[in-house]
Parts: sequence; C-alpha cells; structure tokens
Amino acid sequence: MGTKHLIWGTLNRYCETRRSKIENYNLVIIGGGPGGYTSAIRAAMKGAKVAVVEVDRLGGVCLNRGCIPSKSLIASAVQYQKMKAAESFGIRLVAPPIYNWSAMKTRKDKIVGTMVGGIEQLFKSHGVAYFKGYGKVVGKNQVAVIDDGGNETRLQTDNIIIATGSRSRSLPVFPSDGKRILTSDHLLELEHLPQSILIIGAGVIGCEWAFMLSMLDVQVTVVEMLDRALPLEDEGTSKLIERELKKRKVTLHTKTKVDAVEPGAQGISAGLSNGKTVEANQVLVAVGRAYNTEDMGLEEVGVKLNKDGSIKTGPDMRTNVDNIYAIGDVRGEILLAYTAVHDGSVAVDNALGGQAKKNYLGVPSVIFTHPEVASVGLTEARAAEKHEIVVGKFPLRALGKAHAENEIAGEVKVIGDKKTDKLLGVHIVGIHATEIIHTAALAINRGLTVTQLGSLIFGHPVISESIMEAAHDLHGMSVHLAKKRR
Ligand code: NAI
Repeated sequence: MGTKHLIWGTLNRYCETRRSKIENYNLVIIGGGPGGYTSAIRAAMKGAKVAVVEVDRLGGVCLNRGCIPSKSLIASAVQYQKMKAAESFGIRLVAPPIYNWSAMKTRKDKIVGTMVGGIEQLFKSHGVAYFKGYGKVVGKNQVAVIDDGGNETRLQTDNIIIATGSRSRSLPVFPSDGKRILTSDHLLELEHLPQSILIIGAGVIGCEWAFMLSMLDVQVTVVEMLDRALPLEDEGTSKLIERELKKRKVTLHTKTKVDAVEPGAQGISAGLSNGKTVEANQVLVAVGRAYNTEDMGLEEVGVKLNKDGSIKTGPDMRTNVDNIYAIGDVRGEILLAYTAVHDGSVAVDNALGGQAKKNYLGVPSVIFTHPEVASVGLTEARAAEKHEIVVGKFPLRALGKAHAENEIAGEVKVIGDKKTDKLLGVHIVGIHATEIIHTAALAINRGLTVTQLGSLIFGHPVISESIMEAAHDLHGMSVHLAKKRR
C-alpha cells in the first residue's frame, strides 16, 4: 500500500470517529412531543438510561403549534366575547372592548415558552439526555442524530421508540404557501388577522378555528365534504354545533368540495362543487394530518408501515422489529396528545421487560369550540348497530348554573343499553364540556351502568349536574324536566 493510501485511510478513520461519537443507552426516543417526552421521564423514573432526539423545540406539535397555543388564543377570544356581553352581567364598559391580536400572540408565546422550559427542567431533574437534531434509525440498535451543522452523533441503544407525530396535510391541488393558503401552523403566527377566511374541512381543527376566528370578528365560511360538521361526533352534537356556527354568522357548506382556489379581489376566489363561489382574504386547509415517517431509515431496518405512511404496531406498541416501538400520532390509530402519553407508558413498560397493552376504553374526545364539545363511548348511531338502546337528554338551559354563567347553549345526551342498563356513550355540548366529560369517561372505563352514573351525588350548582340529570332522564326520572307526553 502506498503512502498516499495510508494517509487517506488514517484521515478517513479520524473523520469516522469524529462523526460517530457513540453513546450507550437503554432507550432512545425519537421525537420530544407529549408521547416522547413523557415516555422519557417515565423510563428514567424506572431507572433506565434514556435519550430523547428532537429536531425542533421540546413539546412537539401539541405544545408548540397545537393544543396549548390554540387554547391560549381561544381563551383570549372567549374573554373578548365575555367583555362584549358585559351588560348582560350588569357591568357597563365605558368604551367597547378592542382586542389586540399581536398582544394575544405574545401571551400565547409566553405560555408556550414557560411550558417548553418546564420540560427541559424535568429532563435535567430526571437525568434524561436531550439531543437536538434530526433522528434517524441506522440499525436495529443505533440512532444517528444529525444537528443543524450536519454533524452526526451515534447513539447505541437496547430499545428505540418512534414518537415523531404528524403534520398538517395539504391538498395537492392547492398546496399551502403560508400567504393565501394556510395551515393552522401559519394561522398561529399571522401578523394580522384577515377580515374573511375560507376554512376547508369542518373537523376538529376547522371547527375550533371557525369559532375562534368568528369570535374575533372574522367573517368565516366553512366547506366540508361530508354531510355535517364534526362528522366523527354524534349526529346530535353536529346539529347543535351547526346551529351555534349559524348564530355566529359562519356559513357552512356540507357535502361540498373546493374545486379550485384562484387569486381574487379580496385575496382568493374559491369555486365550490355546489356551483357557488367564495371570496375571502385567505384559506385555511384543515383536512387531516400526514405522518412523519419519511427519511428516518425505518424501511431500511425493516419496520413495516401502513399504506398511509403510519407505522404498524400491536397493542403493546411493538413494531414488527422487536426492540423498536412506535407511539402516538405516528401509529395512525388515534391522533391525540393524551393517547400518545398512554401509548408511551405501554411502550416503556414493555421496553423495560413488562407485558403491557393499550387500554383505550373510555378515551374522551374534547373539542374547544364555543360551546365546547366532549364525548366518550359510542355515538347513538354506532350504539344502535349492536344494542337495543335508550337515550336520556338534558338541556343546559334547565340548569341554574348555566344561567348564572350566561352560557345556556347545549345539552347532554346519555346512551344506555335497554336490557343491561350499561352506559354506552355520553355526548356533551356546552360550557366546560371538556372538563366535565371525565366523570362519564371514568364510568365507561369502569363498565358502570346508567343508574350507577346517575346515583352519584353531584355538587350543586355545577354544570356536571347535567350528566346526572341526563342519566335520570334515560329512566324518565329527571325532576327538572317537564313530564313527557307518551
Ligand atoms: P379531521 O380529520 O378532524 O377533519 C378533517 C375534515 O376535513 C373531515 O371532516 C373531512 O371530511 C374534511 N375534508 C377532508 N378533505 C376535504 C376536502 N377536500 N374538502 C372539504 N372537506 C374535506 O382533521 P383535522 O381537523 O385537520 O385535525 C387533525 C387531527 O388533529 C385530528 O385527528 C384531530 O383529532 C386532532 N386534533 C385534536 C384536537 C382536540 O382534541 N381538541 C384539536 C386539534 C386537532
């Protein structure tokens, strides 16, 4: 071998060791969202040596671009509406309230910053190693972290958890450009709110933004290809929410698609499949999510994906590669921060030698429209497919506390099995729905009957009394409802 080759070989080996600084762990988690960061802390509490690889800020979509920032802005919008309604509480304002979008965003950013800092502190206190960079599986037991400067660190590990989540799906016919065609990520950072907006999709994100923006005086039009808003919820819920959208002067086109979006006088002009045209300043595309599984080395190590790009796992969160787990949105089963946390606890238990399986019985759905929506268990239509059902209902306007709060829109629906009295589903539209649903969630999780739910002594006056009353109504025994004509 010539001298030239010798020098070249030595140089290569030197570069290789620089590039491949190897560290050893029991568990490496790719993705620091709610699923990933809680798994890391849980595993560290159980004595494992853990590392988290995150390319962005800790907290994932939920904390940085989803749940927390949107709920911070919704709280501002609700506060603004309350101030506008001050007279009905016996308060006269000396001038009409004016909101400041930029100050609302500053408030939101401060809340997010505090919570992100909190996770960093938790990592320090539990000894979780945090690598900022893009994580790639480069072997069954190895993860590469590529930082902003292109430097690579290799982590050797017994187990890997993929917790890389999802991102807004854009429509190929009119991809989002951040100017006229937006995703919810763009909306959170807008310098100025538009005067008018077209929202494509009346799912969870579409409806939450439709209420928030209309509360902030934006003129909103929503287009949904299915036959109702919030199509995954109970039909009764959709009806009530559609009525509330109407009250806020939101125009909703159901069974409709957007055929084309072109530049228009106000910003955009959209041709709808029902022959109508919508003129607006901007468009929000809220038509679901795509999975972050590309370019991560998953196929190379043999991890099987579903057709839609999500990762296949069993109820133990294991992929087909026995030491590689996947949790949260990236599994494609249910896209919620709180089920990702549950998935994570299952994966951690199993990675550390346990035999855990997921238990989704009684997972509530919580939607931050105004009024709020929350549900657990089966919808009326689904329940009726397998059971002979009985339904109880209680409107919030029959509740003293709802009047005291000046929030009487909505109702609670309780669905039970006629023969066994088993509680099958609870659907709430109304103030604090997202908080009070958990009584019903626990009841479903524990397999209780409607009688058992209704026999609990609820405090008074509270909004959750409406759950008790709806349970009593199912047996024709709600004392706060007029006698029904049979
Ligand atoms: P989604 O799946 O809830 O709703 C998308 C809607 O768009 C559907 O109703 C669908 O029929 C409609 N759609 C699809 N293509 C369309 C088209 N071309 N034209 C018109 N309508 C069309 O998805 P979304 O709202 O984007 O939310 C994404 C995920 O994030 C969901 O899985 C949701 O559960 C989760 N999320 C949960 C929140 C919560 O729990 N409060 C808040 C925000 C998001």
